[in-house]
Amino acid sequence: MIARRNVPQSEELWPEPPIGSPVTELLGGLAPAYSTPWGAAYCCNSLSWLRAIPDASIDLVLTSPPYALEFKKEYGNVAKAKYVEWLKPFGNEIHRILKPEGSFVLNIGGSYNQGSPTRSLYHFKALIMLCEEVGFHLAQECFWHNPAKLPSPAEWVTVRRQRVKDAVEYVWWLSKTPFPKANNRNVLNEYSADMKRLLKRGYKPKQRPSGHIITAKFGSDQGGAIPSSLIERGNNESNSEYIRACAEAGYKAHPARFPRALPEFFIKLLTDEGAIVLDPFAGSNMTGATAENLRRRWLAAEIKEPYLLASRVRFPSIARDRAKA
Ligand SMILES: C[S@@+](CC[C@H](N)C(=O)[O-])C[C@H]1O[C@@H](n2cnc3c(N)ncnc32)[C@H](O)[C@@H]1O
Repeated sequence: MIARRNVPQSEELWPEPPIGSPVTELLGGLAPAYSTPWGAAYCCNSLSWLRAIPDASIDLVLTSPPYALEFKKEYGNVAKAKYVEWLKPFGNEIHRILKPEGSFVLNIGGSYNQGSPTRSLYHFKALIMLCEEVGFHLAQECFWHNPAKLPSPAEWVTVRRQRVKDAVEYVWWLSKTPFPKANNRNVLNEYSADMKRLLKRGYKPKQRPSGHIITAKFGSDQGGAIPSSLIERGNNESNSEYIRACAEAGYKAHPARFPRALPEFFIKLLTDEGAIVLDPFAGSNMTGATAENLRRRWLAAEIKEPYLLASRVRFPSIARDRAKA
């Protein structure tokens, strides 16, 4: 058990009470480690937890499981040779619990083969298994560009200088049908200065040298630029609220978090307010906190109690209750 300490309150505004019924109803009598009006987090092996969730009840599963790394993280990593076999039962359960229009967004990093400057194919094999054996469709392969990624493995990148720095991690956007719920109008970027100028001046339809015909519609304001499949954002949030709150509360921060931008992008793209978003490898519960901020309900599972306890600092209402107790 972790000693009771003063947990700081967040300045951030927290959403109003939720739309829809409490998510805990989906798990019957199972007691969460903590809950908010919008969601609940469970400390358990998520494979058995997923099995308790009813069929076709979840809008979006968004997660980042332990990768098959050569340099293991403190929470343990599955060996490459066993990875596909390990992931498959999770994939089967996720497919079962998703609504027909639902999506499964899987963030997975690449890795080198042991003792060799060659890349493993494990994440591609995982994708093929999920599509060809479990039955998902590949809606789109997306990428998380983390400019803060360190050069590694040192042997190939900084010592022998035979490889370059990795820039992206894969984000497989999978769906239960070829037409999952999605709306890119919810994730538009601000127009570039050039585009703003063009919108002001107007655009004459013409045929590009490539043969593409650009119609007058191109010159009309659509509310913003359609984003690409490359999500750019570092995870070096050393000054973030989470890191600061963990330090003040005496918790160890989770060592492999993804940035808020990642769940935010897919939650907005793939769900409406009130939807249920689930993360079976929750870590610091960035997914749950982001979902709640966007007025979505959430469910999370994490096997390591210290990570789940620390994740409470992301929820000001819980932090406040603890501080009062
Ligand atoms: C890459 S981390 C997830 C980090 C998370 N996306 C975040 O931003 O904080 C993977 C997590 O999965 C957890 N984990 C591994 N196997 C699990 C299992 N069978 N059930 C639940 N959690 C598990 C690990 O303890 C680890 O915290």
